[in-house]
Amino acid sequence: MLQKLYDWVDERLDITPIWRDIADHEVPEHVNPAHHFSAFVYCFGGLTFFVTVIQVLSGMFLTMYYVPDIENAWHSVQYLQSQVAHGQIVRGMHHWGASVVIVMIFLHTLRVFFQGAYKKPRELNWIVGVLLFFVMFGLGFTGYLLPWDNKAFFATQVGLEIAESVPVIGTDIKTLLAGDPDIVGAQTLTRFFAIHVFFLPAALFGLMALHFIMIRRQGISGPL
Ligand code: HEM
Repeated sequence: MLQKLYDWVDERLDITPIWRDIADHEVPEHVNPAHHFSAFVYCFGGLTFFVTVIQVLSGMFLTMYYVPDIENAWHSVQYLQSQVAHGQIVRGMHHWGASVVIVMIFLHTLRVFFQGAYKKPRELNWIVGVLLFFVMFGLGFTGYLLPWDNKAFFATQVGLEIAESVPVIGTDIKTLLAGDPDIVGAQTLTRFFAIHVFFLPAALFGLMALHFIMIRRQGISGPL
């Protein structure tokens, strides 16, 4: 039955070469931990991707309950935690995943750095990687405010003051992010929400696509 359906679609759209292109790749020996234990360091990019997928999926479910305004944000999170079936687990995954993904991206970057995998011809992918790092950091920073509790409020205030300390354009950066030069308030919350769920994820998907296309074109770097 499934085979028939597959053949029917394949006859019309010729899909076999597409997934073969993705699936028919041998793992080079030097990145296979079954051959060299130390090759486990190559897993961190894939783990970063795996946790990112968890963040996106759990985040999509959180937005079904979260209300991005200062009257309701905190209550909506409490409601999700205490009343919604599995709400605590989904929020927990997103909360802890946010830290795990930073640890993974850091380990991945260390692997690339200490193996010199950023050298010619992979300089551009290193630059894309640095942008990915900033985007991840931005997701962490903007997400931290959303529960709208005391910790969120004061951490964001500190973060915005750090942004403000940038020479010349610091105040403009802070105003752009906070929506208000003086307080972390209603404007800040809706702005951070929009940045957290639309702007940065869009940038993340685009950059990850670039990252993976480049890895495919160049292959993984050789053994040390
Ligand atoms: C969302 C974040 C990221 C994801 C999902 C990701 C994923 C991956 C994956 C799956 C690989 C294949 C090899 C491996 O896993 O080690 C890879 C390679 C690579 N990554 Fe990332 N990465 C991310 C962020 C970064 C960052 C922050 C940097 C550096 C600043 C970076 C630089 C590179 C480079 C240069 C390669 C090629 C390495 C080689 O050929 O040996 N990536 N990445």
